[in-house]
Amino acid sequence: MKRSTLMILIGLVLLGLALAVAASVLHDGLSAKATPTRLEAFVARNARHLAIPGKARAAQNPVLDSAEGQRDARLHFADHCAICHGDDGSGDTPIGNGLYPKPPDLRRSATQDLSDGELFWIIENGVRFTGMPAFSSEADHMAGGNHSNGQDSWKLVHFIRHLPHLTAAERLEMERYNPKGPEDRAEEQGENEFLNEATPRAKPESQTHRRK
Ligand code: HEC
Repeated sequence: MKRSTLMILIGLVLLGLALAVAASVLHDGLSAKATPTRLEAFVARNARHLAIPGKARAAQNPVLDSAEGQRDARLHFADHCAICHGDDGSGDTPIGNGLYPKPPDLRRSATQDLSDGELFWIIENGVRFTGMPAFSSEADHMAGGNHSNGQDSWKLVHFIRHLPHLTAAERLEMERYNPKGPEDRAEEQGENEFLNEATPRAKPESQTHRRK
């Protein structure tokens, strides 16, 4: 075969590949409502796996699994993670469903098969080009949180392992720690006011004798 013919053939194959990748990435007009194609999910998962340093992946959980640690992590998850992942880890939440890629069901084997070190790394560093934020000790410290020394993130790793066995009572407890929006707050305030009216308290002096 002539060299120029070979070059044209290679050129055509590369063009075909580029078109396939472009179609995969641009499908559905870049809408976040779409679900990633299998090719895209495969490439992204492997790229993420390769991007996590081998040493980090092999790291052992230094925090012992305990009832107390589980409770800390459960409430922490309800407060910081459930908005996207859901209390049960299913990812079936209004925000989770609107993300591209969507948060995976953390109870499934795709997540459970990740090593402890890998889960820890993902929680601390987040996943670039996705909605998964980094909850690193430094970033959290600036926001006044306490992911310090990674302890909280390691507890969260234990909690993610527990997710497939979450009990109804644990879920109920978590619901009380989910962040509340203005509507829920208004409703809660309404209920409180109603309850307070049912048992009226004496008005403070200053209010009854206030001058105009
Ligand atoms: C703003 C939404 C959002 C919040 C808040 C969030 N996540 Fe995520 N999370 C995601 C998305 C989206 C992905 C999928 C990333 C991907 O496809 O690689 C993800 C992925 C993950 C994964 C990897 C699962 C897998 O199989 O690939 C873990 C573990 C995880 N999140 C844990 C947490 C924890 C723990 C918290 C709270 C400290 C949290 N996430 C908060 C959106 C979020």
